[in-house]
Amino acid sequence: VWVSYALLEQHFAKIGRLQEIEAIVEWDQAVNMPASAGPSRAEAMATLSVVWHELLADPRVGDWLQAAAQQSELDVWQRANVREMRRLFTRARAVPLPLVEALTVATKNSEHAWRQLRQNNDFAGYAPYLEDVVARTRESAAALAEALNLSPYDALLDAFEPDARANEIDASFASLRSFLPGFLQHVLAKQGSLEVREPLGPFSTAEQRELGLQLMVAVGFDARRGRLDTSHHAFCGGVPRDVRITTRYDEADFSSSLMGVLHEAGHGKYEQGLPEAWRHQPVGNPRGMVLHESQSLLQEMQICRGKEFLSFAAPKIRAAFPRSVAEQPEAFTLDNLSRWYTRVRRSLIRVEADEVTYSAHVLLRYDIERRLIDGTLRVRDLPEVWDQGMRELLGLTTLGDDRDGCMQDVHWPAGLFGYFPLYTLGAMVAAQLFATFQASHPEFATELSRGEFGTLNAWLLQHVWSRASSQSTRDILIGASGEPLNPAFYQAHLRTRYLA
Ligand code: CO
Repeated sequence: VWVSYALLEQHFAKIGRLQEIEAIVEWDQAVNMPASAGPSRAEAMATLSVVWHELLADPRVGDWLQAAAQQSELDVWQRANVREMRRLFTRARAVPLPLVEALTVATKNSEHAWRQLRQNNDFAGYAPYLEDVVARTRESAAALAEALNLSPYDALLDAFEPDARANEIDASFASLRSFLPGFLQHVLAKQGSLEVREPLGPFSTAEQRELGLQLMVAVGFDARRGRLDTSHHAFCGGVPRDVRITTRYDEADFSSSLMGVLHEAGHGKYEQGLPEAWRHQPVGNPRGMVLHESQSLLQEMQICRGKEFLSFAAPKIRAAFPRSVAEQPEAFTLDNLSRWYTRVRRSLIRVEADEVTYSAHVLLRYDIERRLIDGTLRVRDLPEVWDQGMRELLGLTTLGDDRDGCMQDVHWPAGLFGYFPLYTLGAMVAAQLFATFQASHPEFATELSRGEFGTLNAWLLQHVWSRASSQSTRDILIGASGEPLNPAFYQAHLRTRYLA
């Protein structure tokens, strides 16, 4: 009776090891690879993904899953593992291979074209590429929707965040939508009277890197099981025993690299905290992108931009940049750094947005991508709809500036639909987890000002990281905080930080 389950574990371990190689090679591509190697690397990677896709969709997996479903002696984790295997198997078989390949080609072409056409602010030149991606994505979503018995957009969401549903997201976002515009005005009015001195560089890359490494280790990222490197866009990759985080350095502004490191370290701690016993098995994977993003936002936004952490970090920041401090001591005081790290401004670019306006950028993209997928919005109308949305949400216009408007993100050119809302859900979960933790650990504020992360990391390990995919996001959140997602925590956090 044990045979089917054991075969499944063996089979999925093989897939897991291939994906491990893929993760390290992806890191290499972003960090080390000379551009000349691009085409041959792309071929090698395509072959690797075909191999593991074939393993995943292997008809024998279906037979083993059926037999394993009868095995009553499986424990809770094994049953959860079978459930995750079935999820992956169903998704892999839902979309016919020619369609998978067509989508891959469309996204590769569009991402490549986008890099140049965005620089040139050339939406008209870019639109046909995106139209192709949207058309293929809609076909693929329709096939997935049928196999999973979901709406097409929910089927896309489900790839990044299992069980996420647009109607539940709508409910969570509704209150945010009505809260944000008025709240933003209050915050801007309040901050208008505060003077912020921007620390002036140059800040050498070597000094920034040293500071980043020091604080990365201080927050609990295990440097013996990971690395910090440099890439064009910050990310967290690699595998749990070898987590590869990256940042990028701007010699005029040390905070972007530093907050990048701390954000990615939050992702990295989650990876490092996944259960060793379930390595290479589906149930051992992170639950989904909402919890993943909650861990980086808890680290970066909830903690590292707060005054307690900054009172620990400020002396280290001053020690890292002695020349700038000598010239401009008032910019490096705790009060000024704290104001600087929580400064709110309306801006066009999502990745540069502060904690308050970030959600507005997400609301805009969420509305638009749903309409692209359900077919009620055409790609050619994007510039106009984007401009309207930016006016309503942030009072800014992008007319004539598609580069900093609807062409700014890599997500759609790369075929990532159903991802944007997960950032804001992650921010909501982060606020809920941190508020719950603080309520039961009043001593933590003092610990934090001394740079002690042990209590928090132990709590997150117990409630989130070690659970991996053994439970749903909803159940993990209930287990940690006593209730499902409650957007009130996030709004309370924003009020406390920005209006108190
Ligand atoms: Co992140």
